[in-house]
Amino acid sequence: MEHVTSLDELPLRDDLRGLTPYGAPQAPLPVALNVNENTHPVPDEVASDILDDVALALRDVNRYPDREFTALREGFAEYLGHGLTAEQIWAGNGSNEVLQHIMQAFAGPGRTAFGFAPTYSMYPLITQGTGARWVAGTRHDDFTIDPDDAARQVAEADPDVILLCTPNNPTGTPLGLDVIEAVYEAARGVVVVDEAYQEFAPHDAPSALSLLHGRPRLAVSRTMSKAFAFAGARVGYLAADPAFIDALRLVRLPYHLSALTQAAAVAALRNSATMLRMVDEIVEQRERISATLEALGYLPHASWSNFVLFGGVDDTQALWRALYDRGVLIRDVGIPHHLRVSAGTEAETTAFLEALASIGPSA
Ligand SMILES: Cc1ncc(COP(=O)(O)O)c(C=O)c1O
Repeated sequence: MEHVTSLDELPLRDDLRGLTPYGAPQAPLPVALNVNENTHPVPDEVASDILDDVALALRDVNRYPDREFTALREGFAEYLGHGLTAEQIWAGNGSNEVLQHIMQAFAGPGRTAFGFAPTYSMYPLITQGTGARWVAGTRHDDFTIDPDDAARQVAEADPDVILLCTPNNPTGTPLGLDVIEAVYEAARGVVVVDEAYQEFAPHDAPSALSLLHGRPRLAVSRTMSKAFAFAGARVGYLAADPAFIDALRLVRLPYHLSALTQAAAVAALRNSATMLRMVDEIVEQRERISATLEALGYLPHASWSNFVLFGGVDDTQALWRALYDRGVLIRDVGIPHHLRVSAGTEAETTAFLEALASIGPSA
Protein backbone atom coordinates (compact mmCIF):
# COMPACT_ATOMS: atom_id res chain seq x y z
CA MET A 1 0.00 0.00 0.00
CA GLU A 2 1.27 3.44 -0.87
CA HIS A 3 1.41 5.97 1.94
CA VAL A 4 0.25 9.33 0.63
CA THR A 5 -0.37 11.16 3.87
CA SER A 6 2.15 13.82 4.80
CA LEU A 7 2.58 15.29 8.26
CA ASP A 8 0.92 18.50 7.03
CA GLU A 9 -2.33 16.62 6.45
CA LEU A 10 -2.57 15.28 10.00
CA PRO A 11 -4.22 17.21 12.84
CA LEU A 12 -0.87 17.79 14.51
CA ARG A 13 -0.61 20.29 17.41
CA ASP A 14 -0.04 23.76 15.92
CA ASP A 15 3.02 24.33 18.08
CA LEU A 16 4.71 21.21 16.66
CA ARG A 17 4.24 22.18 13.01
CA GLY A 18 7.50 22.82 11.18
CA LEU A 19 9.71 21.24 13.87
CA THR A 20 12.38 18.68 12.90
CA PRO A 21 13.01 15.61 15.06
CA TYR A 22 16.43 14.92 16.64
CA GLY A 23 18.44 13.36 13.85
CA ALA A 24 22.14 12.79 14.43
CA PRO A 25 23.12 10.56 11.49
CA GLN A 26 23.56 6.88 12.44
CA ALA A 27 25.84 5.94 9.53
CA PRO A 28 27.60 2.55 9.64
CA LEU A 29 31.13 3.98 9.37
CA PRO A 30 34.17 2.24 10.89
CA VAL A 31 34.96 5.22 13.15
CA ALA A 32 31.83 6.85 14.65
CA LEU A 33 32.78 9.85 16.80
CA ASN A 34 29.63 11.94 16.35
CA VAL A 35 27.33 11.48 19.36
CA ASN A 36 29.72 11.63 22.33
CA GLU A 37 29.33 7.97 23.15
CA ASN A 38 31.89 6.07 25.14
CA THR A 39 33.29 3.95 22.31
CA HIS A 40 34.84 1.42 24.72
CA PRO A 41 32.61 -1.61 25.20
CA VAL A 42 31.47 -2.70 28.68
CA PRO A 43 34.32 -4.86 30.10
CA ASP A 44 33.66 -8.62 29.70
CA GLU A 45 33.69 -9.43 33.42
CA VAL A 46 31.09 -6.72 34.11
CA ALA A 47 28.97 -7.76 31.14
CA SER A 48 28.65 -11.31 32.47
CA ASP A 49 27.84 -10.04 35.99
CA ILE A 50 25.11 -7.81 34.52
CA LEU A 51 23.82 -10.71 32.47
CA ASP A 52 23.37 -12.86 35.62
CA ASP A 53 21.19 -10.16 37.21
CA VAL A 54 19.21 -9.57 34.02
CA ALA A 55 18.60 -13.33 33.73
CA LEU A 56 17.19 -13.37 37.28
CA ALA A 57 14.97 -10.36 36.57
CA LEU A 58 13.68 -12.07 33.45
CA ARG A 59 12.22 -14.89 35.56
CA ASP A 60 9.89 -12.37 37.23
CA VAL A 61 9.12 -10.37 34.14
CA ASN A 62 5.47 -11.49 34.26
CA ARG A 63 5.13 -8.99 37.15
CA TYR A 64 5.37 -5.21 36.91
CA PRO A 65 8.73 -3.90 38.11
CA ASP A 66 9.37 -1.99 41.35
CA ARG A 67 7.70 1.30 40.45
CA GLU A 68 10.00 3.17 42.82
CA PHE A 69 13.19 1.42 41.57
CA THR A 70 14.40 1.44 45.17
CA ALA A 71 17.60 -0.59 44.74
CA LEU A 72 18.65 1.57 41.81
CA ARG A 73 18.01 4.81 43.69
CA GLU A 74 20.05 3.50 46.61
CA GLY A 75 22.84 2.64 44.17
CA PHE A 76 22.86 6.12 42.64
CA ALA A 77 22.80 7.80 46.08
CA GLU A 78 25.85 5.78 47.09
CA TYR A 79 27.66 6.46 43.81
CA LEU A 80 27.04 10.22 43.96
CA GLY A 81 28.06 10.60 47.64
CA HIS A 82 27.58 14.14 49.01
CA GLY A 83 25.44 12.60 51.80
CA LEU A 84 22.58 11.96 49.37
CA THR A 85 19.84 9.44 50.20
CA ALA A 86 17.57 7.39 47.91
CA GLU A 87 14.59 9.75 48.47
CA GLN A 88 16.63 12.50 46.77
CA ILE A 89 17.20 10.42 43.62
CA TRP A 90 15.16 10.03 40.45
CA ALA A 91 15.93 8.04 37.28
CA GLY A 92 14.57 7.49 33.79
CA ASN A 93 15.26 5.98 30.39
CA GLY A 94 18.25 8.20 29.72
CA SER A 95 18.68 11.67 31.18
CA ASN A 96 16.58 12.82 28.23
CA GLU A 97 13.57 11.23 29.89
CA VAL A 98 14.52 12.71 33.24
CA LEU A 99 14.67 16.15 31.58
CA GLN A 100 11.31 15.45 29.96
CA HIS A 101 9.82 14.67 33.38
CA ILE A 102 11.17 18.02 34.64
CA MET A 103 9.65 19.86 31.66
CA GLN A 104 6.31 18.07 32.09
CA ALA A 105 6.20 19.00 35.77
CA PHE A 106 7.62 22.54 35.68
CA ALA A 107 7.27 23.81 32.08
CA GLY A 108 4.31 22.93 29.79
CA PRO A 109 1.85 25.20 27.96
CA GLY A 110 2.24 28.93 28.61
CA ARG A 111 5.59 28.48 30.35
CA THR A 112 9.21 28.91 29.32
CA ALA A 113 12.51 27.08 29.62
CA PHE A 114 15.85 28.85 29.27
CA GLY A 115 19.44 27.90 28.48
CA PHE A 116 22.64 29.60 27.34
CA ALA A 117 23.13 28.86 23.62
CA PRO A 118 24.84 27.05 22.06
CA THR A 119 23.90 24.17 24.32
CA TYR A 120 22.46 20.63 24.12
CA SER A 121 20.22 20.46 21.04
CA MET A 122 17.54 18.38 22.78
CA TYR A 123 16.68 21.11 25.31
CA PRO A 124 14.50 23.10 22.87
CA LEU A 125 12.90 19.91 21.53
CA ILE A 126 12.03 18.51 24.96
CA THR A 127 10.73 21.94 25.95
CA GLN A 128 8.52 22.28 22.87
CA GLY A 129 7.31 18.69 23.25
CA THR A 130 5.60 19.73 26.49
CA GLY A 131 4.05 22.81 24.86
CA ALA A 132 6.44 25.26 26.51
CA ARG A 133 8.58 27.91 24.78
CA TRP A 134 12.38 27.74 24.61
CA VAL A 135 14.28 30.96 25.31
CA ALA A 136 17.96 31.09 24.35
CA GLY A 137 20.39 33.21 26.37
CA THR A 138 23.88 34.12 25.17
CA ARG A 139 27.48 33.23 26.09
CA HIS A 140 30.73 35.14 25.62
CA ASP A 141 32.64 34.52 22.36
CA ASP A 142 34.69 31.75 24.00
CA PHE A 143 31.41 30.12 25.20
CA THR A 144 32.03 30.92 28.89
CA ILE A 145 29.37 32.48 31.12
CA ASP A 146 30.03 34.85 34.03
CA PRO A 147 27.85 35.09 37.14
CA ASP A 148 26.70 38.70 36.77
CA ASP A 149 25.74 38.41 33.11
CA ALA A 150 24.05 35.03 33.70
CA ALA A 151 22.01 36.37 36.62
CA ARG A 152 21.01 39.43 34.60
CA GLN A 153 19.85 37.34 31.63
CA VAL A 154 17.89 34.95 33.85
CA ALA A 155 16.23 37.76 35.81
CA GLU A 156 15.20 39.40 32.54
CA ALA A 157 13.82 36.22 30.94
CA ASP A 158 12.19 35.05 34.21
CA PRO A 159 11.88 31.43 32.97
CA ASP A 160 10.07 28.58 34.70
CA VAL A 161 12.93 26.13 34.04
CA ILE A 162 16.64 26.94 33.58
CA LEU A 163 18.96 24.34 32.09
CA LEU A 164 22.65 24.78 32.83
CA CYS A 165 24.81 22.25 31.04
CA THR A 166 28.28 21.68 32.53
CA PRO A 167 30.56 20.71 30.93
CA ASN A 168 28.48 22.16 28.13
CA ASN A 169 27.54 20.17 25.03
CA PRO A 170 28.55 20.96 22.26
CA THR A 171 31.34 23.28 23.44
CA GLY A 172 32.93 21.32 26.36
CA THR A 173 32.95 24.49 28.49
CA PRO A 174 32.79 24.06 32.28
CA LEU A 175 30.62 26.30 34.43
CA GLY A 176 31.77 27.70 37.78
CA LEU A 177 29.66 26.97 40.85
CA ASP A 178 29.51 30.75 41.29
CA VAL A 179 27.46 30.97 38.07
CA ILE A 180 25.04 28.30 39.30
CA GLU A 181 24.65 30.06 42.66
CA ALA A 182 24.07 33.42 40.95
CA VAL A 183 21.51 31.95 38.54
CA TYR A 184 19.68 30.22 41.40
CA GLU A 185 19.46 33.49 43.34
CA ALA A 186 18.20 35.38 40.28
CA ALA A 187 15.66 32.73 39.30
CA ARG A 188 12.08 32.18 40.30
CA GLY A 189 11.91 28.85 38.42
CA VAL A 190 13.71 25.54 38.89
CA VAL A 191 17.40 25.32 37.99
CA VAL A 192 18.64 22.08 36.47
CA VAL A 193 22.37 21.47 36.19
CA ASP A 194 23.01 18.84 33.51
CA GLU A 195 26.25 17.08 34.46
CA ALA A 196 26.07 14.40 31.75
CA TYR A 197 29.85 14.65 31.23
CA GLN A 198 30.97 15.40 34.80
CA GLU A 199 33.12 12.27 35.14
CA PHE A 200 35.41 13.58 32.36
CA ALA A 201 36.12 16.83 34.25
CA PRO A 202 39.31 17.10 36.35
CA HIS A 203 39.06 14.85 39.42
CA ASP A 204 39.06 17.82 41.80
CA ALA A 205 36.41 19.78 39.84
CA PRO A 206 33.47 20.59 42.14
CA SER A 207 30.02 19.24 41.28
CA ALA A 208 26.76 21.16 41.60
CA LEU A 209 25.74 18.30 43.92
CA SER A 210 27.58 20.25 46.62
CA LEU A 211 25.04 23.08 46.20
CA LEU A 212 21.88 21.00 46.65
CA HIS A 213 21.54 21.45 50.41
CA GLY A 214 19.12 24.29 51.17
CA ARG A 215 18.21 24.86 47.50
CA PRO A 216 14.88 23.05 46.88
CA ARG A 217 14.54 24.44 43.34
CA LEU A 218 17.92 23.01 42.25
CA ALA A 219 18.39 19.61 40.56
CA VAL A 220 21.51 17.93 39.19
CA SER A 221 21.10 15.40 36.38
CA ARG A 222 23.60 12.76 35.30
CA THR A 223 23.63 9.85 32.87
CA MET A 224 25.12 6.36 32.57
CA SER A 225 25.37 6.89 28.78
CA LYS A 226 28.80 8.51 28.73
CA ALA A 227 31.34 7.62 31.43
CA PHE A 228 29.60 4.30 32.22
CA ALA A 229 29.54 3.22 28.54
CA PHE A 230 25.84 2.37 28.97
CA ALA A 231 24.18 4.50 26.24
CA GLY A 232 22.28 1.55 24.77
CA ALA A 233 20.75 0.63 28.14
CA ARG A 234 19.13 4.10 28.49
CA VAL A 235 19.65 5.11 32.10
CA GLY A 236 19.81 8.69 33.35
CA TYR A 237 19.28 10.01 36.86
CA LEU A 238 18.92 13.10 38.98
CA ALA A 239 19.49 14.34 42.52
CA ALA A 240 17.29 16.98 44.15
CA ASP A 241 15.17 17.75 47.19
CA PRO A 242 12.61 14.96 47.95
CA ALA A 243 9.76 17.39 47.16
CA PHE A 244 11.25 17.99 43.69
CA ILE A 245 11.27 14.21 43.18
CA ASP A 246 7.60 14.08 44.24
CA ALA A 247 6.79 16.54 41.45
CA LEU A 248 8.35 14.19 38.89
CA ARG A 249 6.22 11.29 40.18
CA LEU A 250 3.15 13.23 39.05
CA VAL A 251 4.12 13.03 35.38
CA ARG A 252 6.03 9.78 34.92
CA LEU A 253 4.28 6.79 33.44
CA PRO A 254 3.81 4.02 35.99
CA TYR A 255 6.59 1.42 35.82
CA HIS A 256 8.58 3.59 33.40
CA LEU A 257 11.85 1.82 34.20
CA SER A 258 11.65 -1.82 33.12
CA ALA A 259 12.75 -4.61 35.45
CA LEU A 260 15.51 -5.47 32.95
CA THR A 261 16.80 -1.88 32.88
CA GLN A 262 16.75 -1.69 36.67
CA ALA A 263 18.60 -5.00 37.03
CA ALA A 264 21.22 -4.04 34.44
CA ALA A 265 21.81 -0.61 35.95
CA VAL A 266 22.05 -1.89 39.54
CA ALA A 267 24.62 -4.49 38.44
CA ALA A 268 26.58 -1.89 36.43
CA LEU A 269 26.65 0.45 39.43
CA ARG A 270 27.92 -2.37 41.64
CA ASN A 271 30.85 -2.51 39.21
CA SER A 272 31.28 1.25 38.87
CA ALA A 273 35.05 1.20 39.45
CA THR A 274 35.56 -1.15 36.48
CA MET A 275 32.89 0.57 34.39
CA LEU A 276 34.61 3.92 34.87
CA ARG A 277 38.15 2.75 34.32
CA MET A 278 38.25 3.99 30.71
CA VAL A 279 37.45 7.57 31.72
CA ASP A 280 41.11 8.57 32.25
CA GLU A 281 42.07 6.95 28.94
CA ILE A 282 39.31 8.91 27.15
CA VAL A 283 40.49 12.15 28.76
CA GLU A 284 44.01 11.37 27.49
CA GLN A 285 42.63 10.95 23.96
CA ARG A 286 40.70 14.21 24.31
CA GLU A 287 43.91 16.03 25.24
CA ARG A 288 45.68 14.38 22.30
CA ILE A 289 42.92 15.56 19.95
CA SER A 290 43.15 19.15 21.22
CA ALA A 291 46.96 19.24 20.93
CA THR A 292 46.98 17.75 17.42
CA LEU A 293 44.15 19.99 16.21
CA GLU A 294 46.12 22.98 17.36
CA ALA A 295 49.27 21.71 15.63
CA LEU A 296 47.23 21.32 12.44
CA GLY A 297 46.13 24.95 12.64
CA TYR A 298 42.58 24.45 13.98
CA LEU A 299 41.19 26.19 17.07
CA PRO A 300 40.08 23.64 19.68
CA HIS A 301 38.01 24.96 22.60
CA ALA A 302 38.94 23.97 26.15
CA SER A 303 36.90 20.88 27.03
CA TRP A 304 36.09 19.09 30.29
CA SER A 305 34.01 16.45 28.51
CA ASN A 306 34.64 13.48 26.20
CA PHE A 307 34.61 15.58 23.02
CA VAL A 308 36.29 18.60 21.48
CA LEU A 309 34.67 21.46 19.56
CA PHE A 310 37.11 23.04 17.16
CA GLY A 311 36.98 26.20 15.08
CA GLY A 312 39.10 27.44 12.23
CA VAL A 313 37.29 25.30 9.65
CA ASP A 314 36.90 27.13 6.34
CA ASP A 315 34.15 24.91 4.99
CA THR A 316 32.48 22.69 7.60
CA GLN A 317 30.45 20.71 5.03
CA ALA A 318 33.55 19.95 2.95
CA LEU A 319 35.66 18.85 5.92
CA TRP A 320 32.82 16.78 7.39
CA ARG A 321 32.37 15.06 4.00
CA ALA A 322 36.11 14.52 3.47
CA LEU A 323 36.31 12.76 6.86
CA TYR A 324 33.15 10.78 6.05
CA ASP A 325 34.75 9.58 2.82
CA ARG A 326 37.71 8.38 4.90
CA GLY A 327 35.38 6.36 7.18
CA VAL A 328 35.26 8.86 10.06
CA LEU A 329 31.94 10.28 11.29
CA ILE A 330 32.04 13.48 13.34
CA ARG A 331 29.39 16.15 13.98
CA ASP A 332 28.45 19.45 12.42
CA VAL A 333 26.57 21.08 15.31
CA GLY A 334 25.59 24.14 13.30
CA ILE A 335 28.16 26.57 14.71
CA PRO A 336 29.77 28.38 11.76
CA HIS A 337 33.36 27.24 11.05
CA HIS A 338 33.21 24.63 13.83
CA LEU A 339 32.95 20.84 14.05
CA ARG A 340 32.74 18.55 17.08
CA VAL A 341 34.52 15.22 17.54
CA SER A 342 34.16 12.69 20.37
CA ALA A 343 37.29 11.18 21.91
CA GLY A 344 37.31 7.52 20.94
CA THR A 345 39.63 4.63 21.70
CA GLU A 346 43.31 5.28 21.00
CA ALA A 347 42.95 3.56 17.59
CA GLU A 348 39.80 5.52 16.63
CA THR A 349 41.37 8.77 17.73
CA THR A 350 44.46 7.99 15.65
CA ALA A 351 42.23 7.21 12.66
CA PHE A 352 40.49 10.58 13.02
CA LEU A 353 43.72 12.54 13.46
CA GLU A 354 45.43 10.80 10.56
CA ALA A 355 42.43 11.35 8.29
CA LEU A 356 42.37 15.01 9.28
CA ALA A 357 46.10 15.43 8.70
CA SER A 358 45.75 13.81 5.27
CA ILE A 359 43.08 16.37 4.33
CA GLY A 360 45.02 19.38 5.55
CA PRO A 361 43.68 22.43 7.39
CA SER A 362 42.15 24.22 4.44
CA ALA A 363 39.33 21.82 3.49
C1 LIG B 1 24.29 17.43 27.81
C2 LIG B 1 23.56 16.16 27.61
N1 LIG B 1 22.56 15.86 28.43
C3 LIG B 1 21.86 14.73 28.27
C4 LIG B 1 22.15 13.85 27.26
C5 LIG B 1 21.27 12.66 27.10
O1 LIG B 1 21.84 11.51 27.48
P1 LIG B 1 20.99 10.20 27.74
O2 LIG B 1 19.56 10.46 27.41
O3 LIG B 1 21.62 9.18 26.88
O4 LIG B 1 21.18 9.94 29.21
C6 LIG B 1 23.20 14.11 26.39
C7 LIG B 1 23.50 13.18 25.29
O5 LIG B 1 24.28 13.41 24.40
C8 LIG B 1 23.91 15.31 26.54
O6 LIG B 1 24.90 15.64 25.73
